[in-house]
Amino acid sequence: MRTTVGIIGAGPAGLLLARLLHRTGIDCVVLESRTRAYVERRQRAGMLEQGTVDVLRACGAGARLDTEGLVHQGIELRFERERHHIDFPGLTGGRTVTIYAQTEIVKDLVALQLDHGPPLLFEAEAIAVESPGSASHAVRFVRGGREQVLACDWVVGCDGGHGVARAAFPAGTGRTYAHEYPYSWLGILADVPPSCEELVYARGAGGFALHSMRSPSVSRLYLQVPNGTEAGDWPDERVWDELASRFAVEGDWRLERGPVTDKSVTPMRSWVHEPMRHGRLFLAGDAAHIVPPTGAKGLNLAVSDVQLLARGFAALHRRGSTELLDRYSELALERVWQATRFSYDMTRMLHAQPDGDAFDLRMQLARLRRITASRSAAAELAANYTGLPLPDDVAGPPSPPGDQ
Ligand code: APR
Ligand code: PHB
Repeated sequence: MRTTVGIIGAGPAGLLLARLLHRTGIDCVVLESRTRAYVERRQRAGMLEQGTVDVLRACGAGARLDTEGLVHQGIELRFERERHHIDFPGLTGGRTVTIYAQTEIVKDLVALQLDHGPPLLFEAEAIAVESPGSASHAVRFVRGGREQVLACDWVVGCDGGHGVARAAFPAGTGRTYAHEYPYSWLGILADVPPSCEELVYARGAGGFALHSMRSPSVSRLYLQVPNGTEAGDWPDERVWDELASRFAVEGDWRLERGPVTDKSVTPMRSWVHEPMRHGRLFLAGDAAHIVPPTGAKGLNLAVSDVQLLARGFAALHRRGSTELLDRYSELALERVWQATRFSYDMTRMLHAQPDGDAFDLRMQLARLRRITASRSAAAELAANYTGLPLPDDVAGPPSPPGDQ
């Protein structure tokens, strides 16, 4: 088997890249180790920046997103039993975010790919990327118990945090920067209408809680829990009681409860691999960087990585220019580090430090008070949350004033 771009992994990064390349007339093949049912079921975040919505629409994957996605004008911050609305359009010159689950994006992109797109092979596990520094590549993969080879000019590793692409970087050609947070998130999905109109980020007395949603009838909620917690440690009643306590405010707001349909624990870490390219091998999405979920930057970063790559491959295809591909790692990392900083700051501002003292809590509250009292501090949060612009030369027309 031979193709121009071999893509490892059919998460949002690999699927969207395949779609963008296909629309430019560049052939590619996607190898995915899991089954279609598995990738379509994985629960992940669901907050899309404006730029993510725009690119999904532009590549023909916006139909369901436009009817089912929930457009949000801001978020709520809760602390000391107070509620504070952060108004995104007012602070950013009109930007909003959209709630639409990553699983739904994956379903939409898989359907498009299987109907009209280049080959997408499920249960095809890449086991090695060969010759990453030379003029052509081979991805060895196993499918149906048989080892096969995909020969390609370029390889893009979209194979998540535990993939094989990164391992093909020769020793000494890259560096990883990592940070572990001393807490995890317990997430539940519940068949109950959301108790709020927008996402609520709460610094409760017992720690952080987030109220998100998937649809007008399905809520998604998270609780800060100690590292090492198992989902089984938290029966449903205990989860609801703790959520209710962390979201509690003065006044008559109430957390509605309902049947829990999914419960899982996610550790929190920040992790960046530099550079994101070696020779003709590129890394995109979680294969190159992981952010903690506070602020939901993971999916949005995966999308902006592959947008950059797709522009680079298009420039090569149309004009024979490798200039954008050559700048990929530098441009992508600039954005990755900004999102890493934002996720880190949000995480640290909202979670109870296990070894924290009264001073740490005062610092967190002072940060939160600054955001709710100062327009420029709130605007800084809103600009980062709704998504910093891509560089002008790769993103088309400049963004409107006021959203820097
Ligand atoms: N061969 C083939 N496929 C592989 C291999 C392999 N050796 N290793 C991993 N994969 C597949 C995984 O099964 C998965 O479907 O690569 C895919 C990676 O997808 P994601 O983990 O969803 O990563 P990405 O596409 O970068 O999306 C980033 O996912 O983790 C969230 O918060 C993150 O929302 C962000 C998004
Ligand atoms: C989610 O809806 O799953 C979600 C939303 C916002 C976050 C994290 C997760 O910051």
